[in-house]
Formats: sequence, structure tokens, C-alpha cells
Amino acid sequence: MHNASSIADCRGTPRVFEDPRLLRHAVVEAQRQGAKVGLVPTMGALHEGHLSLVDACRSACDVTVASIFVNPTQFGPREDLASYPRSLPRDLQLLAERGCQLAFVPEAESMYGPRHDTYVDVGAAARGWEGAIRPTHFRGVATVVLKLFHIIPADCAFFGQKDYQQTVVVKQMAADLDVPIEIRVLPTVRESDGLAMSSRNAYLTPDQRAVAPRLWESLQLAQSLFDAGVRDADRIQRAMQASLAAEPQLELQYVACFAEGTLCEVERLDAPTIVALAARLGATRLIDNHRLA
Ligand code: PAJ
Repeated sequence: MHNASSIADCRGTPRVFEDPRLLRHAVVEAQRQGAKVGLVPTMGALHEGHLSLVDACRSACDVTVASIFVNPTQFGPREDLASYPRSLPRDLQLLAERGCQLAFVPEAESMYGPRHDTYVDVGAAARGWEGAIRPTHFRGVATVVLKLFHIIPADCAFFGQKDYQQTVVVKQMAADLDVPIEIRVLPTVRESDGLAMSSRNAYLTPDQRAVAPRLWESLQLAQSLFDAGVRDADRIQRAMQASLAAEPQLELQYVACFAEGTLCEVERLDAPTIVALAARLGATRLIDNHRLA
């Protein structure tokens, strides 16, 4: 049995758990001995965006738990569940290098038994934008995140700003369902050309990869209009649409300005605003967002 200090001290490789009950026991035991535990939920194929969450968790907590689970319930029937990139040995190596102490890598069967029939029904936060295009997505996200919060009753959990609507959904779910876990949101990590890191970037052909940074360029265009004093959301969105329309391979799905921390669209940018967008590039969907303040 590991006590809090032996878990916090152990380096080199995360202790890997497949069994939810054994992991829960280790987490509760560490907390009983005074350790602050942080959770970083992921679907694996780890990149620097995920690892920045691990780093933040390591700095804020004594024990870092990363979960790696390609959650079937958040994929639609025509989405990429089967082809989603999987690289567990490499992921565990990266977690070891970043000092993550515990890794949760459940089999699908131990998360969703054959008679599983309960889901978290998120309200308005799950309906628009990503939710409109992926109607069952946030139900699956909220369900698996709540299950992870039960299995790993951490003190804090770390999420990326990259998936802005997901952060709103998770905070709403945690508040509504009395989950006593502090949700922290960390900035988006980007490639050197500005493309937001994503496990799905691996799907892009070299041609598409060359086009993908246009999303970030359009968000920077929004920033430069904002810096020049433009506060009209419609004007900023139209400028972004026009810049993206110049790229025939990109099919813009939405661009929207939200009051920070919400999914309420704003007409004027008089308070901190998140400008978010989604586009298809061939068969791959890319999302990104940026804070204007
Ligand atoms: P996944 O896409 O693997 O992302 C795991 C976490 O990493 C999320 O909080 C996501 O926002 C964050 N992340 C991804 N790319 C990032 C980047 N470029 N910079 C900073 N953070 C980034 O999001 C999910 O998995 C799942 O929906 C999950 C929450 C694990 C539930 O299954």
C-alpha cells in the first residue's frame, strides 16, 4: 500500500490502475494522510497541451492522477471512435517524464457495464455550438467526467481552455450536482505556427496542416480589430468569416462571441469575451477560441 508521501515521492513511472475501486482506494488513502490530489482527465494521444495540465496539477497538488480513456459515449455514430489515435506506452512514458504519479487506464467494460443506463443530461450549455453539431457529445462528456470525479475524488481537476464549451459544461455539471472538486482551466498550448495542439491534428494531410493555422490567424485578426477599438461583435465575426472564406478547403461551421465563462452571445465586447470557432478541414473538425479583453 502506498501512503501519501510514497505516492508523492515516487518518480520514474506512474502507478497504473485499471480497476476503478483500487484507484479510488489509493486516492482516498493519500487524502486521508493529508495529500492534495489533482486529476487530469484525457483521452490519451498526449501532447504538450495535455502535459501542460499535468505540469499545472503537479505544481498545485501533491499527487497527480491522469486518466486515459477514449470515452465511447461522447462520440457520435459517424465519428472517429474506432480511429481515434491510441498510444498508451508512449503516453505513460510522457506522464512519467512529467512526474505524474498515478495513471487510470480503464477498459471500456469497467467504465460502462453491459447494463449501463444512466447519463448526465446537461441543459442549455450542451445544446448550442458544439452540442448542435454533436448532439450527444456533452451528455457523454458530462457522464464520464462525473464518473471520473467519483472514482478519483480529487481536490482539483484540470481542463484546457481549448475546449471552451466543455469547460462551461463541466463547471455547470459540477455545480449543479454538488461535486466538491475545484475546476481549473489552463490556457491553450499552440504549435509554433499558432495551430492549437489537438490529438486530431494527426489526421491532417500535409496540405491541410498547412491551411490549419488560418483558424488562429482569424482569431488574431479579431484581436487586432479589438486592439484598434472595435467592440461590435458582428463586425469582428464578419471579418473573421471573410478571412476564412479565402481558404477554399476550410468550411467554417460557426464563429461566436461569448461573455467569458458563459455561452451567452454578446453584441458588444465591453467585458472580457471569448471568440470561438469551429471549421471542417476535409474530414477533420478543428475548434479554437481566444479571449479578448
Ligand atoms: P482530450 O481531448 O484528450 O483533452 C484532455 C484535456 O486536455 C481537456 O481538458 C482539453 O481541453 C485539454 N487540451 C486539449 N488540447 C489542449 C491544448 N492545445 N492546450 C491546452 N489544453 C488542451 O477533452 C477530452 O479529452 C475529453 O472530453 C475528456 C474531458 C477527457 C472526457 O472524456
